[in-house]
Amino acid sequence: MPHRIAVIPGDGIGKEVMPEGLRVLDAAARRFSIDLAFEHFDFASCDYYAEHGQMLPEDWFETLKGFDAIFYGAVGWPEIVPDHISLWGSLLQFRRRFDQYVNLRPCRLLPGIKSPLANRGPGDIDFYVVRENTEGEYSSVGGKMFEGTDREVVIQETVMTRHGTDRVLKFAFDLAQSRPRRKLTSATKSNGIAITMPWWDERVAAMGARYPEVKVDQFHIDILTANFVLHPDWFDVVVASNLFGDILSDLGPACTGTIGVAPSANINPEGDFPSLFEPVHGSAPDIAGKGIANPIGQVWSGAMLLEHLGHKAAADAIVAAFEAVLAEGDSKVLTPDLGGQGTTEALGRAIAERI
Ligand code: NAI
Ligand code: MG
Repeated sequence: MPHRIAVIPGDGIGKEVMPEGLRVLDAAARRFSIDLAFEHFDFASCDYYAEHGQMLPEDWFETLKGFDAIFYGAVGWPEIVPDHISLWGSLLQFRRRFDQYVNLRPCRLLPGIKSPLANRGPGDIDFYVVRENTEGEYSSVGGKMFEGTDREVVIQETVMTRHGTDRVLKFAFDLAQSRPRRKLTSATKSNGIAITMPWWDERVAAMGARYPEVKVDQFHIDILTANFVLHPDWFDVVVASNLFGDILSDLGPACTGTIGVAPSANINPEGDFPSLFEPVHGSAPDIAGKGIANPIGQVWSGAMLLEHLGHKAAADAIVAAFEAVLAEGDSKVLTPDLGGQGTTEALGRAIAERI
């Protein structure tokens, strides 16, 4: 039985990096005899919106729910559709309806890429951020009263459930358990946010008791962000609530250089619904159409997709392939964001050939 993959390139450079992501997946599938069946969709893009007046067809949920995974490019073209409409009308629908409650981002300094942090080389930064992706600070509980008057009041409640918290903690502990360092760091703020965050700490401790081999520490979010910059080598798996995770999952990849290489996964670990794999970057209107976008974020997301489907060796081969191409540093192959003069396609082909 083939793995059924829904392919959604989206907008802008999403349409340029996706073919390279698929080229590399194909190469890995051939080498490791994995049967992948791709189906292509044009919705969840601003072009689709321009034609249909909405980002998704009415039956998108039924259409996509039977797939084993979704391989996504990037969404957004603010000239045609305001960003909150394109994002809420597509990606955020997928994350919610498919209960993709883990947002996973590797933060790894790759060979040939200069970190914005001084004196850091490959090996110094290699950790994951695990963000809770469905509840917490991003709730719809709250409201506004007496708008426009002196009595104006606005409230938005944080909602943390034992169900929602424990399941993301379990994912993070399992991940830490599977890695050589077996270390987990929890992002907290129990000194200031004195109800939900001490409770979060209790849930971390309770889950930690089930993983005696995993070393646990915790930092308040303010000093934790500082330590990402000062001591990125301290971290292995970092787990955080929705808001704290949002911040950390941009800061972490930023410490490893260009945004063009960063991948991410939105995971429904139980497999009740498809998980979604996408580069961290957006549609990059400023360079779209030029054929110079870095495809590695898309390619690496493809590796995460394969790993999620149980093909760790193939995923590792993809990562090894782009690391080798980066280490070689051929300026005719590397895209401009990496200091070269190469094209999206040249870099994609070089990675596929390695595999
Ligand atoms: P962006 O990530 O598209 O671009 C930020 C900067 O990074 C730009 O200068 C761009 O040229 C550069 N960049 C991004 N990806 C690159 C790549 N692969 N290779 C080389 N350079 C790259 O973020 P921006 O400009 O804030 O947003 C543009 C659009 O993308 C908006 O509509 C936004 O809503 C959307 N967006 C979508 C995301 C998604 O689909 N998950 C995530 C972030 C933004
Ligand atoms: Mg963000």
